[in-house]
Amino acid sequence: MMKYLLFLLFLLLKAGTATAQNNLVVNGIPWFDDKGNIVNAHGACIVEENGRYYLFGEWKSDKSNAFPGFSCYSSDDLVNWKFENIVLRVQPEGILGPNRVGERVKVMKCPKTGEYIMLMHADDMEYKDPYIGLATCKTIAGDYQLQGPLLYKGQPVKRWDMGTFQDTDGKGYLLIHHGPVYRLSDDYRSIEAEVAHIKGMGESPAMFKKNGVYFMLTSNLTSWEKNDNFYFTAPQIEGPWTKQGLFCPEGKLTYNSQSTFVFPLKCGNDTIPMFMGDRWSYPHQAS
Ligand code: DGJ
Repeated sequence: MMKYLLFLLFLLLKAGTATAQNNLVVNGIPWFDDKGNIVNAHGACIVEENGRYYLFGEWKSDKSNAFPGFSCYSSDDLVNWKFENIVLRVQPEGILGPNRVGERVKVMKCPKTGEYIMLMHADDMEYKDPYIGLATCKTIAGDYQLQGPLLYKGQPVKRWDMGTFQDTDGKGYLLIHHGPVYRLSDDYRSIEAEVAHIKGMGESPAMFKKNGVYFMLTSNLTSWEKNDNFYFTAPQIEGPWTKQGLFCPEGKLTYNSQSTFVFPLKCGNDTIPMFMGDRWSYPHQAS
């Protein structure tokens, strides 16, 4: 009888462990999608739609740093990911044509038009011809149509690392390395105004709001190498922005990552900022 009870206890504990593991997001190791492939989504962001999470990212290859497309996965628990689609493919020509760079894809749903707006960094292979690109779609998981460079006062924004932020009032923002914060027009298809310029910013901008305070995360400029990322805060998006220091222990190199996005994870009546960062492995970025 005792033996039987012990065996039962063992089975229960085992089942408990298995359940716990299946519900954990495990950091810093490959995740696998519903097809058994590595979740390949770098410089990513998450959009929540009808209780489902959509992860967009760079669909990296091990062979070359050239843009291979942007991927989209979906999940209802942030743990188990279904491959949805390559939502934007290599274009025949133009800013995301063959042998160009495509990075840091960010998607937002425009509240006014209901359209999905995708912004990204497009460049040449030497990072000497940067653009912020615009692609749009009527459905969340593609296929997105590349519209070309995003314009401000009729001109392309010739900058590289970018991020986006959607405020609770529905306004959309474009964040740019080394300082500029731009407010998008009502249809999110162009830039309306530069609303702030954060002195002392680095690369990989990622913004969130918590308890009425705006936070901006950023990395130092060290190419693909990890470093101690730092942050600023402000009472309003327009500023004044104050440098606060590191947000991970010094020397941990942001736990070997570089910021890309902060997802506002709804939790009851609260919103938990969920940090998302990349562990680069250039030139073998897929694996
Ligand atoms: C750092 C950026 O944050 C990355 O997105 C990428 O552009 C690399 N630089 C390229 O060196």
